[in-house]
Amino acid sequence: MSDPGRPPRGKFITFEGGEGAGKSTQVRLLAERLRVAGREVVTTREPGGSPGAEAIRKLVVEGSVDSWDGTTEALLMFAARRDHLARTIWPALARGTWVLCDRFADSTMAYQGQAHGLGRSVVARLYELAVGDFRPDLTLVLDLPVPVGLARARARPGVEDRFERLGHAFHERVRAGFLDIAAAEPARCAIVDATGSIEAISVAVCDTVRSRLGAG
Ligand SMILES: Nc1ncnc2c1ncn2[C@@H]1O[C@H](COP(=O)(O)OP(=O)(O)OP(=O)(O)O)[C@@H](O)[C@H]1O
Ligand SMILES: [Mg+2]
Repeated sequence: MSDPGRPPRGKFITFEGGEGAGKSTQVRLLAERLRVAGREVVTTREPGGSPGAEAIRKLVVEGSVDSWDGTTEALLMFAARRDHLARTIWPALARGTWVLCDRFADSTMAYQGQAHGLGRSVVARLYELAVGDFRPDLTLVLDLPVPVGLARARARPGVEDRFERLGHAFHERVRAGFLDIAAAEPARCAIVDATGSIEAISVAVCDTVRSRLGAG
């Protein structure tokens, strides 16, 4: 039952896609556009987004690639996600604030579940345990051919190593993982062609937000 004294719940929009797809760029641009339109907006990212989740992020991101086995890494991701939801995302949505999140659970599914081979059912069970029935209102999957993502990553200092260490086939599996998720949940997900200019993609993102959520 809605309380007339409270603002309507905010919308939760997640941005997904491989390295260099433009997620961080597009989160920033959508936030600017929504704020111009008068909305309260919080931008956040995963892993991280709350003090506890940022501490877990350090464990996952700053270690070597094989610091954790796949199951442990997925458990850490969901522990961070649970804290991020409880401390940052759910309180903001309850205040009527829109939350734009740079990566969310679909990244765990595509990377750990699919590309690293942990299996989708393991990730789905962890999701159920840590997140329950809650889902993003809209997930924008920024889709890019792997070589284009690699070229963008190469243009950025520091990112090339990580990208190339994992290999082309790995990134193809990640891309396929995101496209599978979008195909399985078309009401929640929209695939955005991320090969155009930053501005063209931003327009496509805004059009999708407007058509799917009736605002933006
Ligand atoms: N449409 C675009 N065309 C060309 N370059 C772009 C485009 N979008 C973003 N870039 C550039 O590509 C690089 C990667 O973009 P960005 O950081 O937004 O990607 P990301 O998806 O957040 O990557 P990561 O997964 O590594 O965090 C940046 O240098 C950015 O300026
Ligand atoms: Mg980024």
